[in-house]
Amino acid sequence: MIISFEGIDGSGKSTQAKRLLDRLGASSLDVLYVREPGGTAVSERIRTLLLDPSLVMDPFAEMLLFSAARAQLVREKIRPFHEAGGIVICDRFFDSTVAYQGGGRQVADPDWLGDFQRVVTDGVVPDRTYLIRLDVATASQRLTERLGPGEAADRLESAGMAFFERVFNAYERLSASEPNRFVVINGQQSIDEVAAEVWADLLPTLPA
Ligand code: ADP
Ligand code: TYD
Repeated sequence: MIISFEGIDGSGKSTQAKRLLDRLGASSLDVLYVREPGGTAVSERIRTLLLDPSLVMDPFAEMLLFSAARAQLVREKIRPFHEAGGIVICDRFFDSTVAYQGGGRQVADPDWLGDFQRVVTDGVVPDRTYLIRLDVATASQRLTERLGPGEAADRLESAGMAFFERVFNAYERLSASEPNRFVVINGQQSIDEVAAEVWADLLPTLPA
């Protein structure tokens, strides 16, 4: 089983992915947690490039780098673990590229980008995708609070409100287009309330 968490920066998605990891880890199930971009030696190197605030990167090149990191992660980790019967928790997956590079940066037609991502992942699609829906203003406030004194936002976090509004809207379109895969959760709730909604949805689908 493959589960992904999606949402704009600061929506609370990593908090929830880790909560789920703790909860599933306490059971006898085999669980793998991966975060994007990253998760393999090659993909972590690509992550360093992608998040470097000193680099001016062409948006199409950026899309290809996110995709390259993902191609490596799927083939090296996600697919083998999934095929061995494990549960994979993805803290972001290909929907992030459709939302950020398609919606946010507008590098390519989102439908084309969606098709391209099926090639990048060799057809690997999550069974369930939890979209944590939080408005841009609240998410941005949480991110500012998360930054330590003197700590700078990374290259993508510095992209601005209009960018994140486009990303938010792209996630809305994505979730509406695949209602069987996406579960949209109100991110204004407390951490416990969001986690409870995820758990209530997931529990009936877990292997015994
Ligand atoms: P993301 O992975 O979506 O960028 P995080 O999970 O890192 O977001 O959360 C961003 C910040 O908001 C963190 O400081 C986290 O502790 C806090 N946070 C997460 N979920 C909630 C919530 N439901 N209510 C209030 N604060 C939250
Ligand atoms: P990260 O620090 O992991 O952010 P978060 O805590 O919000 O998950 O940084 C990942 C950044 O990269 C984030 O701004 C989203 C962006 N991103 C894309 O633009 N496209 C992608 O395909 C992926 C996976 C992430």
